[in-house]
Amino acid sequence: MLINIGQRVRGCRGASSCDIPDRSGRFAPERVGSMLPAMTETTRNSSPSDDTVSFGFTDVNREDKAGLVRGVFDRSARRYDLMNDLMSLGIHRVWKDMVMTRANPQPGERHLDVAGGTGDLARSFLDKADRAARRRGQPATAQAVVLDINEQMLRAGVKRGLKPDHEGRIDWITGNAECLPLPARWADCVTISTGIRNVTNRDKALREMRRVLKPGGRFLCLEFTKPTTRGWEKLYDAWSFNVMPELGHWVAKDRESYQYLVESIRRFPDQESFKAEIEAAGFRNVSYTNFSGGIAALHVGWA
Ligand SMILES: C[S@@+](CC[C@H](N)C(=O)[O-])C[C@H]1O[C@@H](n2cnc3c(N)ncnc32)[C@H](O)[C@@H]1O
Repeated sequence: MLINIGQRVRGCRGASSCDIPDRSGRFAPERVGSMLPAMTETTRNSSPSDDTVSFGFTDVNREDKAGLVRGVFDRSARRYDLMNDLMSLGIHRVWKDMVMTRANPQPGERHLDVAGGTGDLARSFLDKADRAARRRGQPATAQAVVLDINEQMLRAGVKRGLKPDHEGRIDWITGNAECLPLPARWADCVTISTGIRNVTNRDKALREMRRVLKPGGRFLCLEFTKPTTRGWEKLYDAWSFNVMPELGHWVAKDRESYQYLVESIRRFPDQESFKAEIEAAGFRNVSYTNFSGGIAALHVGWA
């Protein structure tokens, strides 16, 4: 296992790199709290200008967002897996399983999980690829890279441990989705799960994920999206605006980070608009599937 802090992934040449905001870019929790205006229809639907970008319902300077996001996940890393289970009532596991069923991992493939956090998708990729290998009487040779801008999230994933047969086959690297430290055409499959909405320059990140995919490689993006009916949206709003920040407060002692997470979901484009962004980044045959009435959607495209 490799924890590669801002360095090259094993076996990669000619990798690019870019700055990861350091802790000085981080706002103290009380500052984040004070930045959050009350939710209005305007803040919910408005688009930031070219110089600013959304950070929850607040528009912040483009160059500040990555540091702020990093602060959120620095604070939530320790309790991230538990909070994920509580906030989604465990449903994120079902969604992730559906993502990996669609990814259809194969023996010998290379998987890159961008904004991979504690490594759920990478573990699942190896499990499924190994099962396919066993069926064919082949050795388990798939490998995965979990890349995240936040070292604390990766460390929480490493601390969780690995199955013995995954040992040495997952690399953990810090890096920014907007300039992946990997060579072109490196991966067979690139995934990003509930990470793209946190990225400052989404178009740049999408182009990067396209760049590192082999021709014909697949891209899968799971993200919280827009519920498909007004009634369902109202119910979901009630749950997320009232329950999630409270859970954050009681379980993780951090209401502000969870308030940001809820707000960032509302500022993310709807399914069709995001599909157009993926196409603009050069992916082919892009389609999406709504999960749980559109609370989340899986977008899939091909390099
Ligand atoms: C909600 S968590 C999702 C983690 C994991 N993918 C999952 O589904 O459980 C979002 C992750 O995105 C990471 N992240 C945010 N901005 C990023 C960026 N620009 N590049 C790479 N990772 C980023 C955060 O550090 C965090 O770990």
